[in-house]
Amino acid sequence: MIEATPNIILHAADVHKNFGGLRALSDIDLQIEEGKTHAIIGPNGAGKSTLLNVIIGRIPPSSGAVVFDGTVLTGKAPHEINQLGISRVFQTPEIFPDLPVLHNVMAPAFARRDGAFRVNLLRSIDSERQIRQEAEDILDDIGLHGRRGDHAGSLSRGDKRRLELAMCLIQRPRLLLLDEPTAGMSRHDTNTTIELLRKIKSSGMTKVIIEHDMHVVFSLADRISVLAQGRIIASGLPQEIKEDPRVQQAYLGGSVQ
Ligand SMILES: Nc1ncnc2c1ncn2[C@@H]1O[C@H](COP(=O)(O)OP(=O)(O)OP(=O)(O)O)[C@@H](O)[C@H]1O
Ligand SMILES: [Mg+2]
Repeated sequence: MIEATPNIILHAADVHKNFGGLRALSDIDLQIEEGKTHAIIGPNGAGKSTLLNVIIGRIPPSSGAVVFDGTVLTGKAPHEINQLGISRVFQTPEIFPDLPVLHNVMAPAFARRDGAFRVNLLRSIDSERQIRQEAEDILDDIGLHGRRGDHAGSLSRGDKRRLELAMCLIQRPRLLLLDEPTAGMSRHDTNTTIELLRKIKSSGMTKVIIEHDMHVVFSLADRISVLAQGRIIASGLPQEIKEDPRVQQAYLGGSVQ
């Protein structure tokens, strides 16, 4: 039986995933410490998104298990895993393009964790006001307040990513998984997002971040794991990873900085 140790909030244990003959993930053992920001880096096609998909229940592992705060996630449906307090910003934003930005942010709050997650159809006008206020505050934080009345579909790619982050934050997850959260953003918007992610770090939320932009990785990560060809080839503190020759090798001899 697999058990999570007290400060390990997520443990992917001996996870394998094959797509036909392709070994997308092999021998994955990943432990995420509560309250930390853990970055997963690696070349294109290394298996990073597949690993997140296994964690959130979109893809069943071929073998192995994922344990979140003592609960085995493997075999659970994505919405059940979400209700346990895990939210994810996808590599491709998933938003409601025909709804105003503000309503996109408010929608997930009606189904958020409340002891157990529940949809409360009898919420009072007051609590709807409260949710609206919370959504407006989050939009302010991420710099999208001025766009709150616009259809979400009209946002730029980078702004859609930020909107999706806002939709996750209003769920107040215990574990936030971010798949390339700054992809498609300008340098200015990337820095705004780094600041926002730093701010929510102080709230104690645990974060797993997949990112190609090393400026983002080294600005935020407490720990880094490196995936290459479906295997974790190195895991450690940012400085250790920077100096690890296997990591340099995985990036074809280039510097990871
Ligand atoms: N549903 C699927 N069916 C078959 N093969 C898949 C599927 N999803 C991913 N793969 C393959 O698994 C491997 C890992 O893909 P994955 O998307 O996890 O990589 P990644 O590290 O997220 O890459 P990137 O940095 O480009 O986003 C790739 O070879 C990919 O083609
Ligand atoms: Mg990916």
